[in-house]
Amino acid sequence: RYEITQREAVAEILPGLKTPLWTYEGTFPGPTIESRRGRPITVTHRNELPVPTVVHLHGGRTPASSDGYPTDLVLPHGHTASHAMHDPRAVVTTLTRDYTFPLDQRPALLWYHDHRMDFTAPAIWRGLAGLHVVRDDDEDDLGLPAGDRELPLMICDRAFAADGGLAYPALDPALRERPGVHAAYLGGVLGDVILVNGAPWPVHEVDAARYRLRVLNASNARHYELAAVTDDGRPVPLVQIGADQGLLAAPVPHHRLPIAPAERYDVVIDFSQVRPGERVRLINHLGADRTRDVMAFHVTRRAPDDSRVPDVLSTDLPTWRRSEATTVRDFSFRAGHTPHGRGWVIGGLPFDPTRTDVATTLGATEVWRLIADVHHPVHLHLVGFRVLSRGGRPPLPHDAGLKDTVSLRPGEAVEIITRFDGYRGRYLFHCHNAEHEDMGMMANLEIT
Ligand code: C2O
Ligand code: CU
Ligand code: CU
Repeated sequence: RYEITQREAVAEILPGLKTPLWTYEGTFPGPTIESRRGRPITVTHRNELPVPTVVHLHGGRTPASSDGYPTDLVLPHGHTASHAMHDPRAVVTTLTRDYTFPLDQRPALLWYHDHRMDFTAPAIWRGLAGLHVVRDDDEDDLGLPAGDRELPLMICDRAFAADGGLAYPALDPALRERPGVHAAYLGGVLGDVILVNGAPWPVHEVDAARYRLRVLNASNARHYELAAVTDDGRPVPLVQIGADQGLLAAPVPHHRLPIAPAERYDVVIDFSQVRPGERVRLINHLGADRTRDVMAFHVTRRAPDDSRVPDVLSTDLPTWRRSEATTVRDFSFRAGHTPHGRGWVIGGLPFDPTRTDVATTLGATEVWRLIADVHHPVHLHLVGFRVLSRGGRPPLPHDAGLKDTVSLRPGEAVEIITRFDGYRGRYLFHCHNAEHEDMGMMANLEIT
């Protein structure tokens, strides 16, 4: 049982400057929740922020009542319901809310974040995000790097105003009034400061040993292509052992690892290939200048290392075959018309909480063909899926394993396969460019 108070807090993120934040428990990121597979937990959220909130556990196999539907609001304490109920579409409201997570799922790095309709992007930007690690005995027994040598890395970008406040364009009343500003941010909001676990470009001291980096891209809109290089430019491979929904079948080495918003990659890096005293930089090939650097590891000393990366990591990945699918659906993710003007739509339609976009039955296996105009990281609630094809070709190496978010590249079609098991109810799928999501690129999935 956990209790989390959502409240305003001030942090020193950039040296000497104070940054007001919206937080879970006063910190950014929020507290990391550690849980065990199949052991249900309840998290009680109390909202002391000035706005309604919604909590979603991204990657969780969660009953719909605790999945954080965008109109399922936790109202602010100290604010009257009528004030917060300006959105007539709100269906359920409370001041404090128990979210119950069965966690009957593969061990994985999940994350929790705000999900309020139309306001998810600014809420995450202001700090409403945290990590949640699910573990089990089988994974513990593999001998992967653990303890101090397992590092969860929540990577995100932010922009700061001169006074240290977070700069989010739509929060600036002057910009809000000006027509056209919305259009300027259609692509999503980017920052020029890269934060890892809330700190700008950190340097972390490590032994000359293997480390497990559990990377989450918690950025609203920024894509990264990560690589590790020594100061003299030698690449250090990132050996992928897991995806969004847990361990791969077998390790996959990468020199460059693309990571879209909301994706997680579990990688092992071996610093014993580097001399003590050297540094290894984690860089972003898609960035320029300040956004090219992510963080650095300072290798301080030789040290014993009894960790290993087994050739077989897991044997329980679903092996759904195309021939098992009872339904094939097509969805286009494109710019389009919304009630608020230009925005983003799925199959031509902007999000409407009263419409059922997909109706399916518990246990159905389906193939979804997703096609994009520009980059869209597409996320399904409740279920993991496997990538069947990308651009008419076999999936890329980093598409391996069980995913809950897949990056559609510009003009590209991706086929995924999944089984809608677990729970009945109303769930979502959406683009996880948080601004695209707020500007309409979300749809309802009803499982009966
Ligand atoms: Cu990470 Cu619908 O969310
Ligand atoms: Cu989710
Ligand atoms: Cu998008």
